[in-house]
Amino acid sequence: MPILASYFCYAFLIPENFILRHPMKKKNPPVKEKQPPVIIAVVGRKGGVGKTTTSLNLSGELASRGYQVLLVDLDVQGDATSALTREEYPTSTGQVLLAGSGLLDALVQTKLPTLWLLPTDDDLKPRSKELIAHRPDDFRFALRDVLAAEAGGFDFVIIDCPPSLEDITLIGLCAATHYLAPALPSYFSLKSLNKLAELTTLIQQEPGMNPNLHFIGLFFTDFNPRVRNTLHADIVAAANHLFPGQVMANVRTDKRLGDAQRDAVPAQLRTPESNAVADFQLLTDEVLSRL
Ligand SMILES: Nc1ncnc2c1ncn2[C@@H]1O[C@H](COP(=O)(O)OP(=O)(O)OP(=O)(O)O)[C@@H](O)[C@H]1O
Ligand SMILES: [Mg+2]
Repeated sequence: MPILASYFCYAFLIPENFILRHPMKKKNPPVKEKQPPVIIAVVGRKGGVGKTTTSLNLSGELASRGYQVLLVDLDVQGDATSALTREEYPTSTGQVLLAGSGLLDALVQTKLPTLWLLPTDDDLKPRSKELIAHRPDDFRFALRDVLAAEAGGFDFVIIDCPPSLEDITLIGLCAATHYLAPALPSYFSLKSLNKLAELTTLIQQEPGMNPNLHFIGLFFTDFNPRVRNTLHADIVAAANHLFPGQVMANVRTDKRLGDAQRDAVPAQLRTPESNAVADFQLLTDEVLSRL
């Protein structure tokens, strides 16, 4: 077998099959009513800018600090799901949105005891089409309503949105109290932030949509201060000029993030000494200070 093929067989197929036969015992998700959770949508129009990495590490860091955290995988790619679990899950985000209930039963407990996942898969796309067909006037509130009814026991809900600003992201932004925008230190990524700002302004201003949606800020991930021609530093300077007061601390390039994803373990447990975990700790401090 070629070396690459044998690697994928080892890294993904064998552990997955193994873990499926040895599911973790599921505890009950928190149900106690308290203050409504802070709901943060991690959004961006461009693909591959670090939305899922941010969702995973922000939720992992908050859970490591003892908060009850729900991570909603709202991307049909299911990257957040496969980065946290290889368990079988009977119900996914699309089904919960369509049914308008059943959130707590659908949750998967992760290896961090206070971090819970609403998992997703290919099912999200057809289910969201059904949802839009059934509720053309108010489909965008499907997640908001489910969270309002069932997520009262959580301190934070983090929503990992897909790489577009279309219907599914709209569902995430209408459910959120806050949003956060990771970007790559590239010109194209910087440009796409303007489109996001246009959409969120519309959501805030359109009567009945989500007038209380707050922008936490944007930040650059996969940031390398030593890159040639100081390109990365120049992009951050441009962002500070375009979005004054809204640019947060960078997350440095750290290839060890991939280890946690491959092993379906939060980076806080897999590589606690890594630069990325340290940077996401600082970012989490900054997020909390900006709420
Ligand atoms: N700080 C970092 N250092 C190194 N690699 C990173 C860093 N942040 C993200 N990556 C890598 O970049 C890739 C894209 O990241 P990620 O999947 O989080 O982006 P995304 O915006 O969610 O993508 P998509 O739009 O497809 O959902 C992943 O392989 C991830 O491991
Ligand atoms: Mg993603």
